[in-house]
Amino acid sequence: MKKEFKSIHYKEFNTNIFKLWEDQWFLLTCGDFKTGDFNTMTVAWGSLGIMWSVPFAQAVVRPTRHTFGFMNKYSDFTLCAFPKKYQKDLSWLGTHSGRDGDKIAHTSLTPCASHKILSPSFEEADLIIECEKMYVQDMDPSKFLHDFIHTKYKENDHHRIYFGKIVNIFSS
Ligand SMILES: Cc1cc2nc3c(=O)[nH]c(=O)nc-3n(C[C@H](O)[C@H](O)[C@H](O)COP(=O)(O)O)c2cc1C
Repeated sequence: MKKEFKSIHYKEFNTNIFKLWEDQWFLLTCGDFKTGDFNTMTVAWGSLGIMWSVPFAQAVVRPTRHTFGFMNKYSDFTLCAFPKKYQKDLSWLGTHSGRDGDKIAHTSLTPCASHKILSPSFEEADLIIECEKMYVQDMDPSKFLHDFIHTKYKENDHHRIYFGKIVNIFSS
């Protein structure tokens, strides 16, 4: 049976954001559901908040990810969170590249159309955040003010930062 999603206003969104990012993780998905030109990857670093007086989600993607090309080509993306039982699927999608084949086919997840944007969501998600890109910036290591941050970039693959304006939050 298909889940009923309801749209929530961002001020009604009431969850532990730290647990959501660090323990539950998201799938970051970008592209065009209709043409099938999209990719997804697991993300655990990012933020949700207010910037320029609008609600935003911020995700960071290393240039080595296949998803990186999609994030630059398309103007929107989704962040989807899932019930615990799908965590092994998120682990798979966070350790395999769409560059090497249809990695979603190895999971129990089903891409589906989003409501306001081209990038897909997933039927099994219990939280879907639809975003329109509004700001992009490459991380500048000369601006790191704590030494430990450099240890995260041994391959010199500094993230590109994407701020997306949240245009919809759906929760099941
Ligand atoms: C729990 C978890 C969190 C991750 N968080 C990020 C992240 O925030 N940014 C990033 O660039 N890669 C992150 N990754 C790595 C990508 O998900 C991984 O490299 C993935 O295979 C890339 O897929 P792609 O090549 O199809 O884009 C994470 C992986 C895992 C398992």
